[in-house]
Amino acid sequence: MQKIGLIGGTGDIGSALAVHLAKKNEVLIGSRSKEKAESAVRDILKDKKGRKDLEEHLKAVMNELVASTCDVVILTVPYSVAIETITKLQSEFKGDQLLISTVAAIEKSRNEFVPIRNRISISRNIQEIVPKSMHVATAFQTIPARVLYKEEKIDADVLVCCDEQSTYSRTAGIISSVEGLRPLYAGTLDLSLEIEGLTAILLNISIHEHLKSPTFKIKSF
Ligand SMILES: NC(=O)c1ccc[n+]([C@@H]2O[C@H](COP(=O)([O-])OP(=O)(O)OC[C@H]3O[C@@H](n4cnc5c(N)ncnc54)[C@H](OP(=O)(O)O)[C@@H]3O)[C@@H](O)[C@H]2O)c1
Repeated sequence: MQKIGLIGGTGDIGSALAVHLAKKNEVLIGSRSKEKAESAVRDILKDKKGRKDLEEHLKAVMNELVASTCDVVILTVPYSVAIETITKLQSEFKGDQLLISTVAAIEKSRNEFVPIRNRISISRNIQEIVPKSMHVATAFQTIPARVLYKEEKIDADVLVCCDEQSTYSRTAGIISSVEGLRPLYAGTLDLSLEIEGLTAILLNISIHEHLKSPTFKIKSF
Protein backbone atom coordinates (compact mmCIF):
# COMPACT_ATOMS: atom_id res chain seq x y z
CA MET A 1 0.00 0.00 0.00
CA GLN A 2 1.41 3.41 -1.00
CA LYS A 3 0.60 6.79 0.48
CA ILE A 4 -0.67 8.87 -2.43
CA GLY A 5 -1.64 12.53 -2.11
CA LEU A 6 -3.47 14.87 -4.44
CA ILE A 7 -2.62 18.58 -4.39
CA GLY A 8 -5.89 20.27 -5.31
CA GLY A 9 -7.57 16.88 -4.89
CA THR A 10 -10.95 18.51 -4.23
CA GLY A 11 -11.43 19.17 -7.97
CA ASP A 12 -12.71 16.97 -10.80
CA ILE A 13 -9.66 14.95 -11.78
CA GLY A 14 -8.36 14.79 -8.20
CA SER A 15 -11.59 13.26 -6.87
CA ALA A 16 -11.81 10.93 -9.88
CA LEU A 17 -8.30 9.58 -9.33
CA ALA A 18 -8.91 9.31 -5.58
CA VAL A 19 -11.90 7.00 -6.10
CA HIS A 20 -9.70 4.51 -8.00
CA LEU A 21 -6.41 4.84 -6.15
CA ALA A 22 -8.04 4.48 -2.72
CA LYS A 23 -9.03 0.90 -3.56
CA LYS A 24 -5.52 -0.25 -2.65
CA ASN A 25 -3.71 2.82 -1.27
CA GLU A 26 -3.99 5.38 1.46
CA VAL A 27 -5.12 8.51 -0.41
CA LEU A 28 -4.85 12.04 0.95
CA ILE A 29 -7.14 14.59 -0.69
CA GLY A 30 -5.26 17.86 -0.38
CA SER A 31 -6.63 21.37 -0.45
CA ARG A 32 -5.78 24.92 0.55
CA SER A 33 -8.59 24.54 3.09
CA LYS A 34 -9.04 21.58 5.46
CA GLU A 35 -12.82 22.20 5.46
CA LYS A 36 -12.97 22.01 1.67
CA ALA A 37 -10.96 18.76 1.71
CA GLU A 38 -13.32 17.30 4.35
CA SER A 39 -16.32 18.34 2.30
CA ALA A 40 -14.81 16.70 -0.83
CA VAL A 41 -14.26 13.42 1.07
CA ARG A 42 -17.83 13.59 2.43
CA ASP A 43 -19.19 14.12 -1.09
CA ILE A 44 -17.26 11.13 -2.45
CA LEU A 45 -18.46 8.88 0.39
CA LYS A 46 -22.04 10.04 -0.21
CA ASP A 47 -21.77 9.34 -3.96
CA LYS A 48 -20.14 5.95 -3.34
CA LYS A 49 -22.25 4.70 -0.41
CA GLY A 50 -21.10 1.53 1.32
CA ARG A 51 -17.60 1.56 -0.12
CA LYS A 52 -15.48 0.31 2.79
CA ASP A 53 -12.22 0.84 0.85
CA LEU A 54 -12.97 4.55 0.46
CA GLU A 55 -14.17 4.92 4.06
CA GLU A 56 -10.91 3.40 5.29
CA HIS A 57 -8.41 4.92 2.87
CA LEU A 58 -9.57 8.46 2.03
CA LYS A 59 -8.30 11.32 4.21
CA ALA A 60 -8.83 15.08 4.03
CA VAL A 61 -5.71 17.19 4.54
CA MET A 62 -4.04 20.48 3.68
CA ASN A 63 -1.82 20.48 0.57
CA GLU A 64 1.23 20.95 2.82
CA LEU A 65 0.67 17.54 4.42
CA VAL A 66 0.51 15.91 0.99
CA ALA A 67 3.88 17.42 0.10
CA SER A 68 5.55 16.54 3.39
CA THR A 69 4.29 12.97 3.91
CA CYS A 70 3.26 11.21 0.67
CA ASP A 71 5.33 8.75 -1.38
CA VAL A 72 3.45 9.81 -4.49
CA VAL A 73 2.20 13.37 -5.04
CA ILE A 74 -0.26 14.07 -7.87
CA LEU A 75 -0.72 17.69 -8.91
CA THR A 76 -4.34 18.35 -9.90
CA VAL A 77 -4.71 22.15 -9.98
CA PRO A 78 -5.55 24.42 -12.95
CA TYR A 79 -2.72 25.48 -15.25
CA SER A 80 -2.92 29.12 -14.19
CA VAL A 81 -1.92 28.28 -10.58
CA ALA A 82 0.26 25.18 -11.06
CA ILE A 83 3.70 26.79 -10.80
CA GLU A 84 2.59 29.17 -8.04
CA THR A 85 1.21 26.20 -6.05
CA ILE A 86 4.42 24.15 -6.40
CA THR A 87 6.57 27.18 -5.53
CA LYS A 88 4.56 27.77 -2.33
CA LEU A 89 5.01 24.12 -1.33
CA GLN A 90 8.68 23.97 -2.37
CA SER A 91 10.09 23.75 1.15
CA GLU A 92 7.44 21.23 2.29
CA PHE A 93 8.43 18.33 0.00
CA LYS A 94 10.13 15.55 1.96
CA GLY A 95 12.15 14.56 -1.13
CA ASP A 96 12.65 11.30 -3.06
CA GLN A 97 8.93 11.35 -3.99
CA LEU A 98 7.24 10.66 -7.29
CA LEU A 99 5.40 13.80 -8.44
CA ILE A 100 2.91 13.32 -11.28
CA SER A 101 1.54 16.42 -12.98
CA THR A 102 -1.91 16.12 -14.58
CA VAL A 103 -1.84 19.79 -15.60
CA ALA A 104 -2.83 20.70 -19.16
CA ALA A 105 -1.71 24.04 -20.62
CA ILE A 106 -4.62 25.14 -22.74
CA GLU A 107 -6.78 28.21 -23.25
CA LYS A 108 -9.70 29.38 -25.36
CA SER A 109 -8.78 31.55 -28.33
CA ARG A 110 -11.69 32.85 -30.37
CA ASN A 111 -13.82 29.77 -31.05
CA GLU A 112 -11.38 27.01 -30.26
CA PHE A 113 -9.12 25.59 -27.58
CA VAL A 114 -5.38 25.97 -28.20
CA PRO A 115 -2.24 24.87 -26.34
CA ILE A 116 -0.45 27.59 -24.40
CA ARG A 117 2.97 27.76 -25.99
CA ASN A 118 5.47 27.93 -23.16
CA ARG A 119 9.25 27.76 -23.60
CA ILE A 120 9.43 24.61 -21.48
CA SER A 121 6.83 22.12 -20.33
CA ILE A 122 5.08 22.60 -16.99
CA SER A 123 6.60 19.34 -15.75
CA ARG A 124 10.12 20.51 -16.65
CA ASN A 125 9.36 23.79 -14.91
CA ILE A 126 8.14 21.89 -11.83
CA GLN A 127 11.26 19.73 -11.83
CA GLU A 128 13.38 22.88 -11.69
CA ILE A 129 11.48 24.09 -8.59
CA VAL A 130 11.15 20.95 -6.43
CA PRO A 131 14.07 19.33 -4.54
CA LYS A 132 16.55 17.52 -6.82
CA SER A 133 15.70 14.16 -5.24
CA MET A 134 12.11 14.31 -6.57
CA HIS A 135 11.09 12.27 -9.62
CA VAL A 136 8.70 14.16 -11.90
CA ALA A 137 6.34 12.70 -14.52
CA THR A 138 3.46 13.90 -16.69
CA ALA A 139 0.30 11.78 -16.99
CA PHE A 140 -3.54 11.70 -17.19
CA GLN A 141 -3.96 14.91 -19.31
CA THR A 142 -6.18 13.12 -21.85
CA ILE A 143 -8.29 11.12 -19.39
CA PRO A 144 -11.81 12.52 -18.81
CA ALA A 145 -12.44 13.03 -15.07
CA ARG A 146 -16.20 12.48 -15.40
CA VAL A 147 -15.84 8.94 -16.77
CA LEU A 148 -13.25 8.00 -14.16
CA TYR A 149 -15.28 9.42 -11.28
CA LYS A 150 -18.44 7.58 -12.33
CA GLU A 151 -16.34 4.41 -12.66
CA GLU A 152 -17.77 3.85 -16.12
CA LYS A 153 -16.00 1.32 -18.32
CA ILE A 154 -12.96 2.98 -19.87
CA ASP A 155 -10.39 1.82 -22.43
CA ALA A 156 -7.78 4.54 -22.82
CA ASP A 157 -4.07 5.15 -23.13
CA VAL A 158 -2.28 7.41 -20.66
CA LEU A 159 0.67 9.14 -22.29
CA VAL A 160 3.53 9.46 -19.83
CA CYS A 161 6.56 11.74 -20.00
CA CYS A 162 9.53 11.55 -17.64
CA ASP A 163 13.32 11.35 -17.74
CA GLU A 164 14.16 8.11 -15.91
CA GLN A 165 13.14 4.49 -16.47
CA SER A 166 12.48 4.03 -12.74
CA THR A 167 10.15 7.07 -12.71
CA TYR A 168 8.26 5.60 -15.66
CA SER A 169 7.93 2.20 -13.94
CA ARG A 170 6.45 3.74 -10.79
CA THR A 171 4.08 5.98 -12.78
CA ALA A 172 3.04 3.10 -15.04
CA GLY A 173 2.28 1.00 -11.95
CA ILE A 174 -0.11 3.62 -10.66
CA ILE A 175 -1.82 4.02 -14.05
CA SER A 176 -2.18 0.25 -14.56
CA SER A 177 -3.84 -0.07 -11.18
CA VAL A 178 -6.86 1.73 -12.69
CA GLU A 179 -8.83 -0.79 -14.75
CA GLY A 180 -8.99 0.17 -18.42
CA LEU A 181 -6.00 2.54 -18.42
CA ARG A 182 -2.82 1.60 -20.29
CA PRO A 183 0.38 3.59 -19.67
CA LEU A 184 2.53 4.43 -22.70
CA TYR A 185 5.91 6.12 -22.51
CA ALA A 186 5.83 9.18 -24.80
CA GLY A 187 9.18 10.87 -24.15
CA THR A 188 11.13 13.02 -21.73
CA LEU A 189 9.80 15.97 -19.73
CA ASP A 190 10.65 18.17 -22.75
CA LEU A 191 8.09 16.24 -24.84
CA SER A 192 5.60 16.82 -22.06
CA LEU A 193 4.99 20.21 -23.72
CA GLU A 194 3.11 18.33 -26.48
CA ILE A 195 1.14 16.14 -24.05
CA GLU A 196 0.11 19.17 -21.98
CA GLY A 197 -1.38 20.75 -25.11
CA LEU A 198 -3.24 17.66 -26.38
CA THR A 199 -6.30 18.37 -24.25
CA ALA A 200 -7.06 21.32 -26.54
CA ILE A 201 -7.48 18.92 -29.46
CA LEU A 202 -9.75 16.63 -27.43
CA LEU A 203 -11.96 19.55 -26.37
CA ASN A 204 -12.28 20.76 -29.97
CA ILE A 205 -13.18 17.23 -31.10
CA SER A 206 -15.73 17.00 -28.31
CA ILE A 207 -17.42 20.23 -29.41
CA HIS A 208 -17.32 19.75 -33.19
CA GLU A 209 -18.06 16.01 -33.29
CA HIS A 210 -20.52 16.03 -30.35
CA LEU A 211 -18.48 13.41 -28.51
CA LYS A 212 -19.02 13.52 -24.75
CA SER A 213 -15.66 12.40 -23.32
CA PRO A 214 -13.14 11.72 -26.08
CA THR A 215 -9.75 10.28 -25.20
CA PHE A 216 -6.78 8.67 -26.97
CA LYS A 217 -6.16 5.02 -27.77
CA ILE A 218 -3.03 4.25 -29.78
CA LYS A 219 -3.52 1.50 -32.40
CA SER A 220 -0.76 -0.65 -33.83
CA PHE A 221 -1.12 -2.52 -37.17
N1 LIG B 1 -11.11 17.73 -15.53
C1 LIG B 1 -10.55 16.82 -16.32
O1 LIG B 1 -11.24 16.02 -16.98
C2 LIG B 1 -9.05 16.74 -16.42
C3 LIG B 1 -8.48 15.59 -16.96
C4 LIG B 1 -7.10 15.49 -17.01
C5 LIG B 1 -6.30 16.54 -16.56
N2 LIG B 1 -6.89 17.68 -16.08
C6 LIG B 1 -6.00 18.76 -15.60
O2 LIG B 1 -5.93 18.59 -14.19
C7 LIG B 1 -5.90 19.87 -13.55
C8 LIG B 1 -7.08 19.98 -12.60
O3 LIG B 1 -8.26 19.90 -13.36
P1 LIG B 1 -9.69 19.95 -12.63
O4 LIG B 1 -10.70 19.93 -13.71
O5 LIG B 1 -9.75 18.91 -11.57
O6 LIG B 1 -9.59 21.41 -11.98
P2 LIG B 1 -10.55 22.16 -10.97
O7 LIG B 1 -11.60 21.20 -10.51
O8 LIG B 1 -10.96 23.43 -11.60
O9 LIG B 1 -9.54 22.56 -9.77
C9 LIG B 1 -8.85 21.60 -9.01
C10 LIG B 1 -8.49 22.20 -7.68
O10 LIG B 1 -7.48 23.20 -7.81
C11 LIG B 1 -7.47 23.98 -6.65
N3 LIG B 1 -7.29 25.40 -6.96
C12 LIG B 1 -8.14 26.23 -7.63
N4 LIG B 1 -7.67 27.48 -7.67
C13 LIG B 1 -6.49 27.48 -6.99
C14 LIG B 1 -5.52 28.46 -6.66
N5 LIG B 1 -5.68 29.75 -7.03
N6 LIG B 1 -4.42 28.07 -5.96
C15 LIG B 1 -4.26 26.77 -5.57
N7 LIG B 1 -5.15 25.79 -5.84
C16 LIG B 1 -6.26 26.13 -6.55
C17 LIG B 1 -8.83 23.81 -5.96
O11 LIG B 1 -8.59 23.12 -4.74
P3 LIG B 1 -8.77 23.84 -3.29
O12 LIG B 1 -9.67 25.04 -3.48
O13 LIG B 1 -9.42 22.77 -2.51
O14 LIG B 1 -7.40 24.18 -2.84
C18 LIG B 1 -9.60 22.95 -6.96
O15 LIG B 1 -10.52 22.08 -6.35
C19 LIG B 1 -5.95 20.93 -14.65
O16 LIG B 1 -4.66 21.41 -14.87
C20 LIG B 1 -6.49 20.17 -15.85
O17 LIG B 1 -5.96 20.66 -17.04
C21 LIG B 1 -8.24 17.80 -15.97
